[in-house]
Amino acid sequence: MPFKFAQSPTIIFGSEKRSELVPSIRKYGGRIVLLTGKKSFTGSKYWEELQGDFEKSKISYRNFVISNEPSPEDIDQICRQNQLKETDAVVAIGGGSVLDAGKAVSAMIGKKEPVKTYLEGVGTKEPDGSTLPFIALPTTSGTGSECTKNAVISEVGENGFKKSLRHDNFVPKIAIVDPELTLNCPKGVTAASGMDAFTQLLESYLSTNSSPMTDSLALGGLEKIKESFENVMGDGNNLPAREGLAYASMISGITLANAGLGTIHGFASSIGGRYDIPHGVVCGTLMLPCNKVTIRKLKKTKSNDAALVKYATVGRMFCGVPRKSVNYHINYLLELISDWTERFGIPRLSQFDVQRDAFPEIVKNTGNKNNPVDLNEDELLEVLESRH
Ligand SMILES: [Fe+2]
Repeated sequence: MPFKFAQSPTIIFGSEKRSELVPSIRKYGGRIVLLTGKKSFTGSKYWEELQGDFEKSKISYRNFVISNEPSPEDIDQICRQNQLKETDAVVAIGGGSVLDAGKAVSAMIGKKEPVKTYLEGVGTKEPDGSTLPFIALPTTSGTGSECTKNAVISEVGENGFKKSLRHDNFVPKIAIVDPELTLNCPKGVTAASGMDAFTQLLESYLSTNSSPMTDSLALGGLEKIKESFENVMGDGNNLPAREGLAYASMISGITLANAGLGTIHGFASSIGGRYDIPHGVVCGTLMLPCNKVTIRKLKKTKSNDAALVKYATVGRMFCGVPRKSVNYHINYLLELISDWTERFGIPRLSQFDVQRDAFPEIVKNTGNKNNPVDLNEDELLEVLESRH
């Protein structure tokens, strides 16, 4: 069972732990580039509190707003406006897009080339790993970007892409996960990003590259999904439930960075590059059909029985009734995903104008990543059809 487990950030987790931001910045100096989202954070009472803290501690900041999943131009523009020698650290407070943008900016400030040069599958060079210290504070529970080593950069359109800027050194230096910051997260975003965290935990648990270490972390994260996701959807102000979901999301970042992901995230890249559709929606909406088709193929081909046992392990954990068959627990898990997809109102692809005639092209660009079994083009098409 050989495996490699990459570095993780210093994690500061818990309600009110945002108070650790100023001393964390101070470790590196007092001049920061600060990235925030459209309004989730800057529209909250915490923004005023933080501005006061910055003033008191003489921290100077230049604030940039990221309103969508970051494009190469967004990153290049921010980098052009900031000098490496005048910046001590980069701080991002926001959802996955803001954190990814911060991660990319921290790696690209001072570089001569545009970020596209270093994007996987797009550029011509590999990043050398040099980066400014980066501090991440998530305000949604979904991507786990506060613990990953890649930043997803998108150019949406017919020839669009969604690709990663990736290096082991790009893992944030510090992740401050304060669940109170997620209290303002709107219901639709909470639902889609929660389904993303759920998908990331399940895919990394089932991954062909998983290890005993990622397995135990993923199962712990899935327990928190069980304990907290429904409660958060029932009452967005339920802080203990928000804590559980924030933990699950953070852990999903660690497991995906070390075990990899599966076909659902293959779709997230091919669909997300072509259409303006939130990452969590793609994952949430395809979670049921993709797992269904994967399980059907695993049973038919008998190629990876261990993966079926893993599916059943997760189903048993959610079900809470131990002495049932593998099939019973697998079906329990699928029914739970189906129920949540409906009840949490996860939109269909057509609601984001994803066209049927683009399916063949999407399928061609979809990789299976580390799915426990590879789905062929007909199977991938079946997955898309069922959520059009
Ligand atoms: Fe994801």
